[in-house]
Amino acid sequence: MADKILEAVKLSKAYRVDARRITVLDNISLTVKKGDFLVIEGKSGSGKSTLLSLLSGLDKPDSGRVILHGTDITGLGEDQLAPFRNRTIGYVFQSFHLIPSLTALENIMFPAELNRDPDALSKAAELLRRVDLHQRDDNFPHQLSGGEKQRVALCRALVNSPQIVFADEPTGNLDSTNGEIILQLLLKLRSELRTTLVMATHSREISSMADRIVQLVDGRIVS
Ligand SMILES: Nc1ncnc2c1ncn2[C@@H]1O[C@H](COP(=O)(O)OP(=O)(O)OP(=O)(O)O)[C@@H](O)[C@H]1O
Ligand SMILES: [Mg+2]
Repeated sequence: MADKILEAVKLSKAYRVDARRITVLDNISLTVKKGDFLVIEGKSGSGKSTLLSLLSGLDKPDSGRVILHGTDITGLGEDQLAPFRNRTIGYVFQSFHLIPSLTALENIMFPAELNRDPDALSKAAELLRRVDLHQRDDNFPHQLSGGEKQRVALCRALVNSPQIVFADEPTGNLDSTNGEIILQLLLKLRSELRTTLVMATHSREISSMADRIVQLVDGRIVS
């Protein structure tokens, strides 16, 4: 498949808790095509967050490989991986993960500045405008509501125009109105910027909008 952007080959991951080994992911293989919206479904504890962190290079599998945008990231050390991630992916967490000491605008600029982008400021300001928060640019995260924080986090994930965006239950900590706003923004920005989107969710409503659904049960793909 020439237009694939992400490939996972036989990923396995176990955690050791005291003397017990808990297998969380068992031989997972999947591919994602450029521009696709892939949803990872499964009940709590089924391994969705673990899979997203392996696919995005935030964590390493015990075995298997991840090829992201043409690079096998499995063998990369953190020195190489961190800048690669910063250029290639955006990540939206359920609990926002904004830096508390930076304003909304500075949070969004941060990945662009790491990338030495001279247009960090103008790009961040434009994204804030697109999510209707341009008047809150100098507010700190604690001055923003959950939905507003997630809009800022979305801008931060997009500021480097990533090839692929990973989102781990991005609406999970929001009420239904704010959840809907975030989802619509993600889908709108995705179609405008033509990014690939990989999202973990338990929401059937979100899944119904996906191009493809991967269902995890006990660390295996069942469909
Ligand atoms: N660092 C860790 N150490 C030990 N066990 C862990 C660790 N991280 C996750 N687990 C276990 O791995 C399993 C899968 O966790 P994971 O967070 O991937 O599930 P999830 O599908 O994202 O669940 P949720 O819908 O609740 O977010 C769970 O049983 C969890 O307890
Ligand atoms: Mg999770």
